[in-house]
Amino acid sequence: MRTRDALDAATVESLLAAAVAAPSIHNTQPWRFGLDVHHQVLEVRSAPQRTLPLTDPLHRAQYLSVGAAVFNLRLAALHLGRRPEVRLLPDPYEPGLLATVRLTGSVDAEDQPADPGLYEAIARRHTSRMPFTGRPVPEPIVAEMTAAAHAAGARLHVPDIAGTRRLLRPTAAAEARNHAHRDRTAETLTWITAPGRDSSYGIPVTALGPPDAAGRMPMRDFTGPLRAVRRPALWFERHVQLGLLWTAHDRREDWLRAGQALQYVLLTATAHGLRTSLLHQAMEWPDLRAATALPRHKRCHPHVLIRFGYGPDGAVTPRAPGLSAAAGAGPRITTGRVSP
Ligand SMILES: Cc1cc2nc3c(=O)[nH]c(=O)nc-3n(C[C@H](O)[C@H](O)[C@H](O)COP(=O)(O)O)c2cc1C
Repeated sequence: MRTRDALDAATVESLLAAAVAAPSIHNTQPWRFGLDVHHQVLEVRSAPQRTLPLTDPLHRAQYLSVGAAVFNLRLAALHLGRRPEVRLLPDPYEPGLLATVRLTGSVDAEDQPADPGLYEAIARRHTSRMPFTGRPVPEPIVAEMTAAAHAAGARLHVPDIAGTRRLLRPTAAAEARNHAHRDRTAETLTWITAPGRDSSYGIPVTALGPPDAAGRMPMRDFTGPLRAVRRPALWFERHVQLGLLWTAHDRREDWLRAGQALQYVLLTATAHGLRTSLLHQAMEWPDLRAATALPRHKRCHPHVLIRFGYGPDGAVTPRAPGLSAAAGAGPRITTGRVSP
């Protein structure tokens, strides 16, 4: 495909459909897309109305979510035979412009990530909050997930049993604090969709999981005081398999890189038939986030825990269609220059 091939509506639609399939905190889908047709640039902005002021006051989780969407855009562009040139935070005068993706010439053999299975995994990946079987994930798959995080500019630490317990402790503590915090619980509840209610955002109660009957796995309880919609407890896998995603710095661009790495890891896992879910609670309290940092690394800024294994697929959560995720009913079309 030549560089100057027009970005037709079908191409834009498939790019954005892939982008919005990314995971996002509480399924807030905190992104907006613009399109500079003339320069073949997709612009990715944050959506200020879809933030979580108490849970995510610095917007770090929002950036992780947007980073995941950018990774999907990259994969979709490669799938369509276009080379994506990604710039993070390209305009210091427009802080809400988080990334641009310019579609340049045709793909060549060196372009990464090249694995076509990753693109297929975009639609198959869903957060699975159910118990997993506990069957160990073969080491080569874990190594591939670790390499994926590294290739995207982050790190994935997969701890042993003792290290896993160490990481789950601050998560359990955060879960308890969230429970006790009435306003945070209320904020979370606004993103939970009651049965029968139609919404393109938030998490339907049917996608939530049960608590662990053994009390070991601190899965997030999204329902707070609404005990009636909580599922009955089930026994979770005894030895949970976890990865801690972290970066060596903690700037906005690191959060966007960590988001891309997160999605690279999740899709690698999905392509191998694994299920995944995320535990972000500890990251929402500065002292508990610090407690999950790896003691042997002087500069370790944790972002999220990724739980992985074999088990039931997660339920599908809704999405606002890519085109209406852009400002108004369609992408914000511009013909001007995107600032350097
Ligand atoms: C930064 C971030 C943090 C998340 N934290 C949690 C969490 O703590 N618990 C959880 O069950 N899901 C968590 N999720 C998963 C989202 O709830 C999920 O991606 C969203 O509801 C969309 O569903 P899907 O992943 O099945 O497409 C998180 C996702 C992101 C990107």
